Amino acid sequence: MAKPVYLIVACSENRVIGRRGGLPWSIPEDSRFFQDKTRGHTVIMGSHSFGEWPGCVKGRDVVVITHEPEKIPAGVHAVHSLPEAIKVAQGLRGDIYLCGGQRVYEEGLALGDRLYLTLVHAMIDDGDTFFPDWRRYFPREIARRESSDEHWRYTFLTLEK
Ligand SMILES: NC(=O)c1ccc[n+]([C@@H]2O[C@H](COP(=O)([O-])OP(=O)(O)OC[C@H]3O[C@@H](n4cnc5c(N)ncnc54)[C@H](OP(=O)(O)O)[C@@H]3O)[C@@H](O)[C@H]2O)c1
Repeated sequence: MAKPVYLIVACSENRVIGRRGGLPWSIPEDSRFFQDKTRGHTVIMGSHSFGEWPGCVKGRDVVVITHEPEKIPAGVHAVHSLPEAIKVAQGLRGDIYLCGGQRVYEEGLALGDRLYLTLVHAMIDDGDTFFPDWRRYFPREIARRESSDEHWRYTFLTLEK
């Protein structure tokens, strides 16, 4: 049987996920959540996100979507499309997590079975990368935990179809 596919993302109230090639925030609790969730599993991401997080290869199987596979280091699976990425990931370790960026999430929303969403309660004005509107794809809330640090307030949500 095919493994389920999970999306994992942190986005602002106005659905910003990135700014100038990085995250618009630094939220240590969310970084830990993301690292812990994906450790020992398989992560799928676009080439920019991989470039930003080369350390993901430690403790994870990694599938990168790119048209330039020759730029991807040995040991990382390079593929041309999201369907191909999911097919390859089916044979790799643990669960399958789609980790961005924008196009991976846009295409993944219809394919995914569960969404781990950290909703950052802020409006980011100068974001340049966005998460698509997820509500009609993932209407069922399975779990919710509110949290904050000295800079940000955020909610960890687990959503299903
Ligand atoms: N908040 C979060 O949870 C989160 C998560 C991930 C990323 N981010 C942020 O998002 C930004 C990076 O995302 P991004 O959207 O700019 O880039 P990205 O998706 O990481 O990478 C884009 C590149 O990946 C390849 N690609 C991605 N999807 C593809 C597809 N479906 N088919 C074919 N090729 C595909 C292409 O590679 P080639 O050009 O190599 O052919 C494309 O140029 C950064 O700011 C990062 O911090 C945030």
